[in-house]
Amino acid sequence: MLILDGKEVSNHVRTSLIPRIAAFKNKTGRAPHLAVVICGEDPASQVYVRNKKAACEKVGMTSTIHALREDITQPELTEMIETLNADEGVDGILVQFPLPKHLSTHEVLQTVSPLKDADGLTYKSLGYFFAGQPLVSPCTPKGVMTILKHYNINVEGMNAVVVGRSNIVGKPMAMLLTEANATVTLCHSKTKNLAQFTKNADLVVVAAGKAQLLGKDDFKKDAIVVDVGMHGSGQGGKLCGDVRFSELEGWAKAATPVPGGVGPMTITTLLENTCLLAEKRV
Ligand code: GUN
Repeated sequence: MLILDGKEVSNHVRTSLIPRIAAFKNKTGRAPHLAVVICGEDPASQVYVRNKKAACEKVGMTSTIHALREDITQPELTEMIETLNADEGVDGILVQFPLPKHLSTHEVLQTVSPLKDADGLTYKSLGYFFAGQPLVSPCTPKGVMTILKHYNINVEGMNAVVVGRSNIVGKPMAMLLTEANATVTLCHSKTKNLAQFTKNADLVVVAAGKAQLLGKDDFKKDAIVVDVGMHGSGQGGKLCGDVRFSELEGWAKAATPVPGGVGPMTITTLLENTCLLAEKRV
């Protein structure tokens, strides 16, 4: 089985960003700049945000973290985002989710400027994206396409199944696979007899949000399996995905591991998107 190594693809893409960042610096006298907003103390979010900042710095981009109080009000958060929208020195904005319960994700997705939306998740960004005219594309599905391309996996004509219908992963994933000429079926938590769909697929992208949901018996021989899941509930508290990866050896043609598959590519695509937005604005 071919292991689709997200770390290797990430290194490749990050290396390709370095001359672009240098060219941007030459032109503008500063590095592309990602502003990350985090509200409250959620420990997982704090780790993600630190990782994003570290990744920016490794490739020579600037990243600032705006850590806001758990009890910040909606008008205060909106004002913070509007300040970043107007700041000429900020190229990308990312508001880390989930937000504390009293705050509105809906409002944030309407406030971040699509010209600075590094996540590609605001309603305007998604509108352009689904119309086939993306400013930037959502990071995780775009990262999956980059992995497939790196390993010369051409999805044209494939039967592809996406499991999960979120705006962050499932729906845009189905869109990108459709644009790449796969025949796509979008399955979700209410799908009857999920295995009937996944077993017929040449390519399955699993973003169900359920630890170790699918295994060998759910895939046909020589399927390509991409696992978007990330859970801390594997054996001995290890990270695991939505797929029982250890069952796939000798059965799947190719698969992404967890960790080291889609996860690193999501952050790398965030860097790529920030660089792209910076280049577009100058
Ligand atoms: N929380 C979990 N995944 C994401 C993501 O892709 N973007 C943001 N902003 N928050 C997240």
